[in-house]
Amino acid sequence: MHVHDYEKLWLGLSLLLIVALIGAVTYGAVGAGVAMVDDSHETVDPDNLNDHPRFGDTGVHHVEGNQYDVNMLALQFAFLPTTVEVPAGSEVTFYVTSPDVIHGMQLEGTNVNTMVIPGEVAEITVEFDEPGEYGIVCNEFCGAGHHDMEGLLTVVPEDEYDDD
Ligand code: CUA
Repeated sequence: MHVHDYEKLWLGLSLLLIVALIGAVTYGAVGAGVAMVDDSHETVDPDNLNDHPRFGDTGVHHVEGNQYDVNMLALQFAFLPTTVEVPAGSEVTFYVTSPDVIHGMQLEGTNVNTMVIPGEVAEITVEFDEPGEYGIVCNEFCGAGHHDMEGLLTVVPEDEYDDD
């Protein structure tokens, strides 16, 4: 059987496309820090967050050097804290949980995006190199006030950051 050269070429390109698609889907599912929020690290009692060392004390905490922790609650229908300020050049780890239902926590314009599940702690680390503003939004429908859940993260120039 004779197969025309151009037909061989198209067959090859089609195969390549299939392999590339499977590769892209696989990478999107498990690559580049993509992970499910689960209880393999830390669980919390969603009914007693006030007494929790981390979530009884929400807000920005300086760890050391350029490292900061943000302890955050996503609840019906707000983020606590609502506004977050960190310096440029910082490495920020968000710890987010919920006292009520499943929420989302997404920083607009970035790939920071996690589910927030009662009893589980979503942990996500981000480096902020440049000053800027990012809206914080909930992207899981969580009730009648879902669309009101918003916050603001401001990255301020390092020399303007008030660290206390
Ligand atoms: Cu919280 Cu939608």
